Amino acid sequence: LKLAVLISGGGSNLEALLAAAADPAYPARVVCVGSDTDAPGLAHAHAAGVPTFIVRPADAETRADWGRALAEEIRRHSEAVDAEPILVVSAGLMRILPPGFVDAFSPRLINTHPALLPSFPGAHAVRDALAAGATETGVTVHVIDEGVDTGPVLRQARVQVRPGESETDLHERIKQLERPLLVDTVRAIADGTIDLTDPSTYR
Ligand code: GRF
Repeated sequence: LKLAVLISGGGSNLEALLAAAADPAYPARVVCVGSDTDAPGLAHAHAAGVPTFIVRPADAETRADWGRALAEEIRRHSEAVDAEPILVVSAGLMRILPPGFVDAFSPRLINTHPALLPSFPGAHAVRDALAAGATETGVTVHVIDEGVDTGPVLRQARVQVRPGESETDLHERIKQLERPLLVDTVRAIADGTIDLTDPSTYR
């Protein structure tokens, strides 16, 4: 299975996928990594010899144009490998993918989110869980639909919130579960345990 991973930040989830894919027994390969900015996490792709691209929203007239440019880059890198369809993995991309982009790749388009959706959608999930006084939160890997963090859930993992802990500490503890959850979810898609065209196989 070919993966196109999209990031905006440090890319520790990307790093986990690259580490997993270094094992020939893992049924997926990262064939390209894209970002909306000069993300520090692109360095993980460079270190692994994986092509990267940056498609800046500021360089596009509209969000739809940005989505088309992003899709074009993914296709260019994907079709350079072979004709197999690609799985797009949003792993810390801090942008909402426009409807045209979602339609172009759905259902081969997944996201990881640091909360137990449908709780705490949006860009500040960890902060929101703390502010709400949640005693438990976690991480969700889901199929991306045209909403914000609203697509069907594939896998979830739970984390107990420690009273008074910082957003950074809680987010790092969430990521400790998130990285293997994402690796395992991609594996399940690659080996057919999850058939993204058949929601009855989602969890
Ligand atoms: C992840 O927790 C992801 O769920 C959230 O942003 C974080 C990105 O972390 N959207 P990293 O860049 O993979 O380290």
